[in-house]
Amino acid sequence: MERAIGVIDSGVGGLTVVHELMRQLPKEKLIYLGDTARCPYGPRTEEEVKLFTWEMVHFLLEKDIKMLIIACNTATAFTLKELQNSLDIPVIGVIQPGARAAIKFTKNNHVGVIGTEGTIRSNAYTEALQTIKADIHVNALACPLFVPMVEKGILTGPVATSVVEESILPMKQKNHMDTLILGCTHYPLIKDTIQEVIGEHVTIISSSEETARETSTILEVHSLLSREENVPVHQFYATGELEIFIEIAKTIFQESNFNMLKIKKACLGTNQEV
Ligand code: DGL
Repeated sequence: MERAIGVIDSGVGGLTVVHELMRQLPKEKLIYLGDTARCPYGPRTEEEVKLFTWEMVHFLLEKDIKMLIIACNTATAFTLKELQNSLDIPVIGVIQPGARAAIKFTKNNHVGVIGTEGTIRSNAYTEALQTIKADIHVNALACPLFVPMVEKGILTGPVATSVVEESILPMKQKNHMDTLILGCTHYPLIKDTIQEVIGEHVTIISSSEETARETSTILEVHSLLSREENVPVHQFYATGELEIFIEIAKTIFQESNFNMLKIKKACLGTNQEV
């Protein structure tokens, strides 16, 4: 039987990466785990994020995954190197792919990054961008209200607009950026609102597409691409209540794709499915 790709996130945000993986790699079976019970990770300490991420990784290793995607910027910032050094399967995060995409798009060399407090504090995006292009100008801003709002299912409407407006205002006022990285996998779910507030002249980058492209290359290099002829049935796990998780999954995946998903509750620590 073909082994699956494991995808982890603190909540529903990583589903935006899954959506792109399903589009670019339709033969690959995916097992997703969102730690919705302990979301958000953004305001947590590095130690906590590491501990929780390792618990998610153990849950997926039990399922014999062939590759791991950390579809969470906060977890990528704090655990990518450690996981790459410790696991004997390929591991990728979402920060480097996003940084690469932004460098491709910017014309004036001014890039903005918005993300959780943890991601912005880690400086991971600025380092990733400046490693590729030393003279790039980076303006980074934490938007701590976005993730709790998205996890509640508020994606559009007047509340979403005013939260985005107030959060992004400092960046809008003093910045010449022509490219903005959504440095959190939850943010593509409110991309339209962010675009409206920031203006059409700014190109918005979400790292999902690049991450899926990189996954495909890595699977090919390691001869791990699936040869499965049948349409895969994906497994989705969340540690918290499933109601909103299912609702958000429905808005991301079209009806036909949504029916290809099996959604269950997971208990980390005991590695049990409920
Ligand atoms: N979706 C996550 C990220 O990309 C984390 C959001 C959170 O848990 O704070 O950073």
